[in-house]
Amino acid sequence: MISLEKLTTYAKQTGFIYQGSELYGGLANTWDYGPLGSLLKNNIKKAWLKKFHDENRYNVLLDSSILMNSQVWVASGHVGGFSDPLTECKFCNTRHRADKLIEEHTNFTVNPSSWTNDELHKYLMDNQVGCPNCGKVGWTEIRAFNLMFKTSQGVTESAGNTVYLRPETAQGIFINFKNIQRTTRRKVPFGVCQVGKSFRNEITPGNFIFRTREFEQMELEFFCKPGTEIEWFNYWRNYCINWLKDLGLKQENLQLHDHDPKELSHYSNATTDILFNFPWGFDELWGIASRTNFDLNAHQTQSKESLEYLDPETNERYLPYVVEPSVGVERLLMAFLTQAYEEETLADGQIREVLKIHPALAPYQVAILPLIKKRHEEKSLELLEIVSKFTQTTYDETQNIGKRYRRQDQIGTPLCITVDDETLEQNTVTVRFRDTMLQEKVAVADLQAFIQKHVSF
Ligand code: GAP
Repeated sequence: MISLEKLTTYAKQTGFIYQGSELYGGLANTWDYGPLGSLLKNNIKKAWLKKFHDENRYNVLLDSSILMNSQVWVASGHVGGFSDPLTECKFCNTRHRADKLIEEHTNFTVNPSSWTNDELHKYLMDNQVGCPNCGKVGWTEIRAFNLMFKTSQGVTESAGNTVYLRPETAQGIFINFKNIQRTTRRKVPFGVCQVGKSFRNEITPGNFIFRTREFEQMELEFFCKPGTEIEWFNYWRNYCINWLKDLGLKQENLQLHDHDPKELSHYSNATTDILFNFPWGFDELWGIASRTNFDLNAHQTQSKESLEYLDPETNERYLPYVVEPSVGVERLLMAFLTQAYEEETLADGQIREVLKIHPALAPYQVAILPLIKKRHEEKSLELLEIVSKFTQTTYDETQNIGKRYRRQDQIGTPLCITVDDETLEQNTVTVRFRDTMLQEKVAVADLQAFIQKHVSF
């Protein structure tokens, strides 16, 4: 398993992920996705949309605004209660999340998620939990710290034009439930998918891209008839796990954490977290929650508009229940890199760095490599034009062919196509496979079908 330090260095050196604002000394816990990282991110989103939207007959798509009327966040409970328990070390003045301090101190054997601030503080002091920064024990009283980024819209700053950067994409779906149902004439059950940025002023961001203040979510809100939600919860739970496995995450690196009824949020009657074995151990990758009708009910009350659904078969009116699988794009990206990165010792003792990532996620599926630039460049560029029309393709003509193969292995390109004299004479290319390093001659006429057979998902 790759270490966190190695993963960070690898991601930076290869062009997956750079430190944000590096030119100006950086901005803590911000990351920029380079040429490879942005392709990988896009491929993750494409794969999610394919599975959750294109291939699923129940779901439709939405792209709602990041900025919304602040009443949305009053209704959802975020203005009043979207906070983490903040405490400060009395010795070095660093700020920490009290619940995380306890989890880490007890190696996750204690779950303080439903404790009061007083209980958290008492535990920290009674158990002599030390500051991760200076090691001393002394904690200020705990206060609730709201995680929403607040700003104002328009030219004047006043309470009336306060807006928040959304801390989840989900609320954009709930407030559009009626619009979507009416315009698509969907019958319950149906779901709404959304991919987009979310922002949380996290107290302790960290672990590279695992917890950041700006991130992207892929959320599905699935509306169903009350009483059927547990059936749908199980359906979506399996759907998510199967998708992760189809994309190469191994069973032994996945765990399910079914929330104990005592740990459930007030609005939920079932929640499972899918955990992945990150470089520091198992941690949350994906949350799946049965959210009852909490959100629709809250928006109905706040807006004073009925959000009820009229069942055309039974003439019943009801607020649908909701099942929500919600995952962060960056966490998935980190899981895929962690799982795929390998260092192999070859027969000659050399180490081969290889990213054995699923072809649907690989930044490039194909690399076109002229064996000798002078002789094979023209034909290679001709092929590049053809192949790049149906798959993500890169072109590399620098250094010897062995070094170019290694570079493509390192960034996860499943197929390398070498153009040589035989291409000019017999119209065949040599295709090399990333994982086995085996090579095969393929006729240019058969190339499209061959590539599609090996890299399509
Ligand atoms: N709408 C429900 C919701 O937002 P959540 O458990 O707070 O639920 C869902 O977030 C997922 O979003 C998490 O499982 C994680 O993958 C991702 N996520 C949440 N906070 C994040 C952060 N600060 N940085 C990166 N990803 C985050």
